[in-house]
Amino acid sequence: MKALLLEDKGKVFEMKVGTVDKPAPGKGEILVKIVATALNPVDYKTGNGGNPNWTFPHILGLDSAGIVEEAGTDVTNVKVGDRVVYHGDLTKKGGFAEYGVTTAHTVSLIPEGISFEDAAALPTAGYTAYQTLFHKMHASKGQTILVHAGAGGVGGFAIQLAKNAGLTVLTTASSANHEYVRSLGADHAIDYHEEDFAEKALEITNGLGVDLVLDTVGRDNADKSLKALAFNGQIAFIAGPPNVNDAISFAHPLSFHQVALGSVHQSNNMNEQRKLAEMGDHMLSLLQDGKINALVEKVISLEEVPEALAELSTRRVKGKIVAKIN
Ligand SMILES: NC(=O)c1ccc[n+]([C@@H]2O[C@H](COP(=O)([O-])OP(=O)(O)OC[C@H]3O[C@@H](n4cnc5c(N)ncnc54)[C@H](OP(=O)(O)O)[C@@H]3O)[C@@H](O)[C@H]2O)c1
Repeated sequence: MKALLLEDKGKVFEMKVGTVDKPAPGKGEILVKIVATALNPVDYKTGNGGNPNWTFPHILGLDSAGIVEEAGTDVTNVKVGDRVVYHGDLTKKGGFAEYGVTTAHTVSLIPEGISFEDAAALPTAGYTAYQTLFHKMHASKGQTILVHAGAGGVGGFAIQLAKNAGLTVLTTASSANHEYVRSLGADHAIDYHEEDFAEKALEITNGLGVDLVLDTVGRDNADKSLKALAFNGQIAFIAGPPNVNDAISFAHPLSFHQVALGSVHQSNNMNEQRKLAEMGDHMLSLLQDGKINALVEKVISLEEVPEALAELSTRRVKGKIVAKIN
């Protein structure tokens, strides 16, 4: 089969399309003819850093949508011909290829009317936003949330999910993206280049601070975000923790949540793994009902993926880029 080949760790931007054997599904697994695979920062990060479980050439790509071609033994929830989307296991070969193998219990069926490209845009960014808001912070109507990097994939889904759930949404974005983040549902857009986002969040909330923060940027940003949190506020971090020890205070109690979406594949915890499928099912239904947008800004070819990953690594990309494969 045709696949985009990573010849060694660190060679992400030099990947070329080549030919490798088609994989075969094992027990509880399915073979998927991939139609679309979305790009994510995790692709260039792991591609550059490598993984001890990989053999080379490796195939990157975690978020794929396609058609079930073959089912291994013990698969009961999907059948040949079903349209599915899934978040793959980063220790295994991925979806920048004509075919991919994944565990059947982690896939979601794509409803009628939703394109493979839109479905593929969901998993890494969308499920991370979903898990953070609803499984970790238990976001609820009437709360305020500061979503960092609202123009990015995770931020864009978080804004939409939070708005749908009845929260007031503050977000950080460059001023050129303020109209965009408002179109996704942000009530307040803060230009983090020009303003101190923590001070601005306090000003917007009349000094109370926000109930929730989703930090998608990194340790320093997460640290600074603590200043914007309300009494009993919660922060979830996906790109590095704040300095938790220094932040523990009897006078200003906070809660901290780590989110590491894909590591569930290595957990041997089937209940937690099934949540990937459940989150997918719910997000696909929101997409079908027109309540969220899949954020797809660009559809590219498999050959164009390395250049697009280089662009993504500048951290200036808005929304999602998806590769059309079959
Ligand atoms: N732990 C997990 O499970 C998990 C899951 C998914 C993603 N992640 C990580 O989360 C991060 C976010 O991923 P992503 O897919 O949303 O893509 P991304 O490439 O990080 O997002 C790009 C956006 O970030 C914005 N941005 C850059 N620096 C910023 C800053 N200092 N403050 C506010 N916004 C900033 C840019 O917006 P402007 O142009 O408007 O500035 C750009 O649109 C990545 O590091 C990714 O690896 C972790």
